[in-house]
Amino acid sequence: PASDPDLVARAKAAKEKLGSSVFILGHHYQRDEVIQFADVTGDSFKLAQQAAARPDAEHIVFCGVHFMAESADILTKEHQKVVLPDLAAGCSMADMAALTQVEKAWEQFTDLGIAGDVVPVTYMNSTADIKGFVGRHGGVVCTSSNAKRALEWAYARGEKVFFLPDQHLGRNTVVREMGFSLDDCVLYNPHKPNGGLSEQELRDAKIILWRGHCSVHGRFTLDCVNEVRERVPGVNVLVHPECKHEVVEAADYVGSTEYIIKVLDEAPAGSSWAVGTELNLVRRVAAAHPDKNITFLDRTVCYCSTMNRIDLPHLVWALEELVAGRVPNQITVDGDTAHYARVALDQMLALP
Ligand code: 13P
Ligand code: SF4
Repeated sequence: PASDPDLVARAKAAKEKLGSSVFILGHHYQRDEVIQFADVTGDSFKLAQQAAARPDAEHIVFCGVHFMAESADILTKEHQKVVLPDLAAGCSMADMAALTQVEKAWEQFTDLGIAGDVVPVTYMNSTADIKGFVGRHGGVVCTSSNAKRALEWAYARGEKVFFLPDQHLGRNTVVREMGFSLDDCVLYNPHKPNGGLSEQELRDAKIILWRGHCSVHGRFTLDCVNEVRERVPGVNVLVHPECKHEVVEAADYVGSTEYIIKVLDEAPAGSSWAVGTELNLVRRVAAAHPDKNITFLDRTVCYCSTMNRIDLPHLVWALEELVAGRVPNQITVDGDTAHYARVALDQMLALP
């Protein structure tokens, strides 16, 4: 079992042997048993910044999901190797936008004569291929903590923004924070001919949202918000912007995982909170603040199953392989894809 004290001792011993040659990054959605070994924890943006912060570390062990490890490989030096302890730690949202589908949409924009007006923006939660596409077409990557700045940057450069792959982060940002209306947005469905959109709809749209979503955050509904407000008097509802628009509209606070932790850290003792994001994070923050009433927004259990793939046995295995001089599960992005994805990532890191 993951709580096996023997595994904890083995992870400690391996980490000690590896010393400064290994740098362990942990996303906030990781299990406690993994987070305890992270040198740095953070949201997607902080981890992208931190990946490059230790050029002396030969190995970066990324406790997160595949697209994060790809970005780390792109952002780190040539000699650094990025390890993902379980290759099955993917992201269903990132899988909702395949390069061939996105290229087909772009061809459609080109045929319509609007491609020159469109600036693509991709959420960090996308494959390196998609980030490469965006970099090649003059766009930018964003995370949930800088989506507004990235979208403003993009919209200032074109007449339309093509936002991939999370419709909710895109819609929530432009409508809540940038003054666009729901009618300014159209939804591009890659499974329908021409994205399910008429020529006129595409010509009129200011924001073209890809039809992707996060299945974990998709679990939170308006009913959850109404129900908790009835059940817990004075409750503050705090959600991640990957939640549906009506949930975000009904919430009191909205932000990235790093923001959620900050708000809860700073909340007064005795205050009540219902939090709409992944459960490992909510449980950890609740345990750190026994003086505050912090609960999960949904009544059921809701982990990100792929984040949870990285468990202590996988971490121990990865570290012990490194001790033995082997590099397990190395994630690499090469060639043009890495080059153009880096252009889009660097653009994000340079946003004011
Ligand atoms: P942030 O950590 O950037 O808030 O992203 C949440 C997420 O879904 C990562 O997959
Ligand atoms: Fe992907 Fe959602 Fe899991 Fe984040 S929480 S890794 S977006 S499936």
